[in-house]
Amino acid sequence: MRLKGKTTLITGGARGIGRAFAAAYIREGAKVAIADINIARARETAKELGAIAVEMDISSQASIDSAVDEVVTAFGHIDILINNAALFSAAPIVEIERDDFDRLFAVNVGGTLFTLQAVAKQMIAHGRGGKIINIASQAGRRGEALVAVYCATKAAVISLTQSAGLDLIKYGINVNGISPGVVDGEHWEGVDAFFAKHENKFPGQKRREVGAAVPFGRMGQAKDLTGMAVFLASSDADYIVAQTYNVDGGQWMS
Ligand SMILES: NC(=O)c1ccc[n+]([C@@H]2O[C@H](COP(=O)([O-])OP(=O)(O)OC[C@H]3O[C@@H](n4cnc5c(N)ncnc54)[C@H](O)[C@@H]3O)[C@@H](O)[C@H]2O)c1
Repeated sequence: MRLKGKTTLITGGARGIGRAFAAAYIREGAKVAIADINIARARETAKELGAIAVEMDISSQASIDSAVDEVVTAFGHIDILINNAALFSAAPIVEIERDDFDRLFAVNVGGTLFTLQAVAKQMIAHGRGGKIINIASQAGRRGEALVAVYCATKAAVISLTQSAGLDLIKYGINVNGISPGVVDGEHWEGVDAFFAKHENKFPGQKRREVGAAVPFGRMGQAKDLTGMAVFLASSDADYIVAQTYNVDGGQWMS
């Protein structure tokens, strides 16, 4: 067990990739708090996996502060944060709406930074160091014609990982990131529907096409990401600072 007794906060852990991180961490001996805006789903998932559920909207400072306090009260301190919650949206450049831009930046960028900040303050106060893992995306490595705002938020996550990594290592806090490629799951239902509309595709067609385009030969599954997430939280990663690793079946290289 590589994370025995490590206390962990995972944002957006109610479903999808965050849920897989929670399951993997629990298998490795960690205590996990699943923090999600969808508290009903978070409770369900927490019950299934043996975690605790915490209501959290990462776009609200008051919600971040109370969720972090709740986890510290429950566990005593936080050893690991996975900044995983995010929203996706897509639109041609001429149709991007300011409200959508504001919402995505508030969640994906502001939520990532200010959750990281609140947890880092706790980690510094407890003097035990820590590990923070930000979930970026291959979309943060390059632009995409119909996905400008999401791509920009994920580029910002990679940049914040670099800056926070450089600033916080003096406290023994490693900040690193994971950049997934295309990962199948409920999230893809909305993405597939969008591309069906904007690229005149049949339902399910975009999903099949993106999977076939991955050099590995298929879309990722959430469990493909858990090995890197466990490694980055373990002591084997103590000397790794401010990096974001692609775990994408070769997608970005292609
Ligand atoms: N699925 C992919 O293809 C893919 C690819 C690259 C990167 N990613 C990234 O991986 C992460 C997880 O993606 P996923 O596919 O599991 O997404 P998902 O939509 O299935 O799950 C996201 C979770 O975040 C929660 N959430 C949304 N807004 C929130 C908020 N304001 N505060 C707290 N929780 C909130 C949702 O309730 C949900 O449980 C995201 O950062 C995403 O950008 C996903």
